[in-house]
Amino acid sequence: MPDQAVLAPGLRGRSLVSIRDFSRLEIEEVLATASHLEGHRGDELAGRQIALLFYENSTRTRNSFVTAVHHLGGSLCGFDSAEGTSVQKGETLYDTIQMFSAYSDAIVLRHPRDGSARWAADSASVPVINAGDGKNQHPTQTLLDLYAIRGTQGRLDNLTVALVGDLKYGRTVHSLSDALSMYPGNKLRYVSPPSLRMPSEQLSSLRQAGVEWSEHDCLEAVLDEADVLYVTRIQRERMPDETEYEKVRGAFRLTAGMLRKVRSSLRILHPLPRVDEIAPDVDHTPYAFYFQQAAGGVPVRKALLWLLLGIGERA
Ligand code: NCD
Repeated sequence: MPDQAVLAPGLRGRSLVSIRDFSRLEIEEVLATASHLEGHRGDELAGRQIALLFYENSTRTRNSFVTAVHHLGGSLCGFDSAEGTSVQKGETLYDTIQMFSAYSDAIVLRHPRDGSARWAADSASVPVINAGDGKNQHPTQTLLDLYAIRGTQGRLDNLTVALVGDLKYGRTVHSLSDALSMYPGNKLRYVSPPSLRMPSEQLSSLRQAGVEWSEHDCLEAVLDEADVLYVTRIQRERMPDETEYEKVRGAFRLTAGMLRKVRSSLRILHPLPRVDEIAPDVDHTPYAFYFQQAAGGVPVRKALLWLLLGIGERA
């Protein structure tokens, strides 16, 4: 269990909408607290309720929050699909957030609209945690991505990180890229089909921050130098029409045979779910780390709830 020294009192009562809402120090507090809470089971959230409002599909994010709340002895309310709720009757996000502010001590929101989490956080009276807003941001995924990177590479700076796949619609790469740009010496290699490149606003803010980055349309071009290969699926459901998807489906497929000349310390990450962008034969190589990465979602989300709800702080 974390002692007082690792608690970040500044996080109590805060929301997490974009990874940029947290400073490097605050990110590191979450990661340190997550390490302390790895095997922790307790009742620190007894009498407190967390609302999980999932307007979009989820497997890992939702269930790791559920597990985190159970490990801390809290209770849950909310929904895992708007179907069967008053959203179907036309209730607005604003009104739903007002109600769950009254029922719960924190709200975890996943919603298909970019900016919805900021809107919710501005109108809620309890902390709002963004569990993915459209193609915009997915900061809790980023925290567990950073947890996996630090755990496998021993640092978060001076790394070459290749981000591969759907960089246009993939919210996990947007958040991770923001986070990695806070650390000195990181080199970002963006690999995608031409139609799915990183948004230009994001590239210009990297340029302003002096981050070294480059774009590629071939995976082989970045494999040898990468410390981390962050592979993502094509976000078919976010594309305006099926023809856009048909043009890029199967654009990149990583196979074990492509990993012959990589660094021995390379680790392959993926936010999951995987579709066909990583062949199953990669799972048995020493480089695959995506399942361990996903398992880190539980301690990281426990740590986030711990800090935002001020558990362990002196009154
Ligand atoms: C990601 C998401 O929802 O953005 N999944 C997740 O939360 N682990 C990635 C994806 O769906 O491709």
